[in-house]
Amino acid sequence: MDQPAPSAVVGEIVGDLQIKRRRPPPCAIVIFGVTGDLTGRKLAPALYNVMVDGLLTEGTRIIGVSRPQLSVQELASKLHDGVEQHSRQKPQPELWKKFVGMLDYVSGELHDDATYTALAKKLDDAKAKGTRGNVLFYLATPPNLFADILKKLAQHKLIERGRATEPFTRVVVEKPFGRDLQSAVALNDLIASFIDESQIYRIDHYLGKETVQNILVFRFGNSIFEPLWNRNQIEFVEITAAEEIGIEGRGTFYESTGVVRDVIQNHLLQVLSLVTMEIPASFSADDIRNEKAQVLRSVRPFSLVDVATEAVRGQYRGYREEEGVAKTSETPTYAAMRFMIDNWRWQGVPFYMRAGKKLARRCTEVAIHFKAVPLVLFKEEEARRSLQPAVLVLRIQPMEGISLRFVAKVPGEAINVGNVHMTMNYADAFKRPIAEAYERLLLDCMRGDATLFNRRDAVDRQWELIDPILRVWEATPGVELYEPGTEGPASAEEMIRRDGHCWRPLSDTAPGC
Ligand code: BG6
Repeated sequence: MDQPAPSAVVGEIVGDLQIKRRRPPPCAIVIFGVTGDLTGRKLAPALYNVMVDGLLTEGTRIIGVSRPQLSVQELASKLHDGVEQHSRQKPQPELWKKFVGMLDYVSGELHDDATYTALAKKLDDAKAKGTRGNVLFYLATPPNLFADILKKLAQHKLIERGRATEPFTRVVVEKPFGRDLQSAVALNDLIASFIDESQIYRIDHYLGKETVQNILVFRFGNSIFEPLWNRNQIEFVEITAAEEIGIEGRGTFYESTGVVRDVIQNHLLQVLSLVTMEIPASFSADDIRNEKAQVLRSVRPFSLVDVATEAVRGQYRGYREEEGVAKTSETPTYAAMRFMIDNWRWQGVPFYMRAGKKLARRCTEVAIHFKAVPLVLFKEEEARRSLQPAVLVLRIQPMEGISLRFVAKVPGEAINVGNVHMTMNYADAFKRPIAEAYERLLLDCMRGDATLFNRRDAVDRQWELIDPILRVWEATPGVELYEPGTEGPASAEEMIRRDGHCWRPLSDTAPGC
């Protein structure tokens, strides 16, 4: 008899699990910072893809705002480069022509009234072409410009309170959302002085990733996992965001940001909240966001003293030679830390988080390590050594999927055990392309669905949790250098080993346990 292929799961789509989404209403998407890096890499490819997939309603317009003096054609050719390089669907002449037909451009300084007068005129034109007065302002600029832009929009009556639904005015802001708790609170207060919370969409692009959304479906759509999802069955959890790339020419930005603000304060704390939240009353935006906020409130804050033992920082060798970086820079490009959650479900379970650049391999995942079995049944030393506890890995990227490691008997007369893996890959299971996070998120803002966006209380709490680490590290130099292409600084290994645990290796040659 043929043996099934090892480690393979064939995905069966029972019905269509993808909720049939409605097309959003038409609107004017105004992008501040349209000539910047984010628009080229993410926004233009996402908008092009959703147009190609037929998800934009007739009448939708894209209006770029930026400083350079450009014609619409010049802007289009700039965006074409970004779409060519970064889009999952490459620009096709006819479709690209259609995309360019949606474009308009306002050049000007962002603090200059003339820019907003010109924008108001373009918005009137867009309304005449079918936007029904709906406007989405996307602030793809450095955060220090948010305040000026919002003030000017308000002065020119382009944003007004109470317009969360049609004809809507919504504002999308990019991270970093503040630099610490105090500045985030100030920014939130400023935004709240112009518009309602229901009009603001704080983007965390991790929440647009299919595999991140799947955390909830996996937990709450299968009856077999949720009963195990607690301190009685789980020994510890690792959340990893390892990148092979460095800072990719973003020296000035990164130097004042560092890995904690760039990835941990937002993306990884959001992943933590999805992994640990309680079961929501429904999948509605507020029910999900209430539960996420609730669990974040139970995460134990670090005291300033804890930082020395519960968090480590590293910097890849060569970072100080990057453009825009100080020769004596202490900015961490790697950080690892241990969170504890003081609630009924998670008391005593450590959550280890690590993120870094220029590491051995690109790998974003959540690894749930289950408790070991009592060893009474396994007398042989060899068997005892091989008997590793089960690990469930939610692979966010790359090789999106889920795998479960468990033990099985090695064929033969003796009771020998081996570790085996059962793996599900999205690409094989569902045979359909995975859309980029920004595609989903842009459509959701246009639809008015805030489920995948960060609410004010969660953002504030995330800063509160991270603030002690930033304060201690910024006051006391001591970043540990690590070689590019490795597992990161040795102190990260020491931190986790003190608890008798170890990280899942990034490279084949790493020690592991
Ligand atoms: C961004 C960070 O938010 O996320 C980058 O600013 C990081 O530094 C990126 O590289 C990682 O996102 P992704 O989707 O490539 O994992």
